Amino acid sequence: MEQLCLFDNIGSSQKQDKTTTFVDNMKLPIHRWFKYSAGFSADWVKNVINEYCKKDSFILDPFAGSGTTNVVANELGIHSLGYEQHYFVRQLANIKLFYGINIDVFKTIVDNALMYPTKKMSILEESDLLMKCYAPDVLVELLTFRDFYFTNKRETPEWHLFWLVLTSILRITSHVGTAQWQYILPNKTKKNTLTPKIALRKKAEEVIADIKVSKQKDFKELGTVIEHDARKENSQINNQIDLVITSPPYPNNYDYADATRLEMIFWKEISGWSDLYGKVRKNLVRSCSQHSAADKIPLDKILEEHVLAPIYGELQSVCKELEQVRFLHGGKKTYHTMLASYYCDMANVFIALRKAMKHNSLMCFVIGDSAPYGVYAPADIWLSKLAISAGFSSCSFEKTRDRNIKWKNRKHDVPLKEGRLWIKG
Ligand SMILES: C[S@@+](CC[C@H](N)C(=O)[O-])C[C@H]1O[C@@H](n2cnc3c(N)ncnc32)[C@H](O)[C@@H]1O
Repeated sequence: MEQLCLFDNIGSSQKQDKTTTFVDNMKLPIHRWFKYSAGFSADWVKNVINEYCKKDSFILDPFAGSGTTNVVANELGIHSLGYEQHYFVRQLANIKLFYGINIDVFKTIVDNALMYPTKKMSILEESDLLMKCYAPDVLVELLTFRDFYFTNKRETPEWHLFWLVLTSILRITSHVGTAQWQYILPNKTKKNTLTPKIALRKKAEEVIADIKVSKQKDFKELGTVIEHDARKENSQINNQIDLVITSPPYPNNYDYADATRLEMIFWKEISGWSDLYGKVRKNLVRSCSQHSAADKIPLDKILEEHVLAPIYGELQSVCKELEQVRFLHGGKKTYHTMLASYYCDMANVFIALRKAMKHNSLMCFVIGDSAPYGVYAPADIWLSKLAISAGFSSCSFEKTRDRNIKWKNRKHDVPLKEGRLWIKG
């Protein structure tokens, strides 16, 4: 018999915990190589794997991001796979999963970069964003490193690692507010910045120290992150997965395509914000209004998707309300189609995962609910219903923290929560 138990109170007496955030990973080897603001805690992943996996288990993270689940699985000697549709982030994750680095070769690359002569260059040709984020002398130093890379690079692991190191110092060398979400705040100033040369040297030393640890511990490359859309079946792994640990996008308007805009502009992968849709956003779960607005699919058309049947009434009423209230707000954001598209996408994710999962397996989804324009959408309840409808047998929600999201500088007072949805079957 289907079992749908929403233990809203699990964990509610705990202190606010940080296991659903990336913060603590910045102290951990390899995880700390790149700060992905959307990540989750590696220590928590380790506990889950230790509790639920055997040596021959196979783990999947269908929203792998910077690869936290896969890096931990490697460290514990367990096979894993990740899907990631954001190609820039996938590249970062896969560099973290490779241990065959020749440290001497990497050191030589870094030494050569630090001695590379500065050529005469015009920073005026660079994007406005770079000009806003860096003082001219800092920008020249960074562009010199980039020029060194473009001129000398080879398709080798050591050069890929150099690319990661240079990518990862772009925010710490900027004097403007560049974190913690994707937004760049040129009017805010950071207190502590490093010069590019010092930052590059420090980061390279940190990376080398971590590689030495992974070599001593003899970590094996048992996982990889591939380009695959979590909404689609992957027939290669049907009925093979024992455990899913993942954190999908939340329907909270966070734009993953924009998360690495500074980095992608620096590397000349895009020339501005408008390139992000075609290069990245269109391939992702529809969790931000820029995405649903660009798609221009009418609300009723999305709602009539049969996969939404289990939540049709509730979803329709929330979306219709959003369709009305948007006109009371300056931005007139398309949160109504964003929400409907998001739950449609997540329904397809569960259907695809049902095929990949073995019977009696377990999935843990780190999720968060949302209240665009103050209209509440209960992620735990709706995602549970969609998972059960896809063929899983039970769901329970474990709250980890309360959160309240700012909607474009306008706070609403709807209480929100974040936590783990445990799905069995
Ligand atoms: C919350 S982040 C995951 C962070 C990850 N747990 C970590 O520690 O880095 C969600 C990720 O899902 C990716 N994503 C969005 N839609 C996707 C899709 N349809 N298929 C695969 N990945 C997708 C986003 O690009 C984003 O990196």
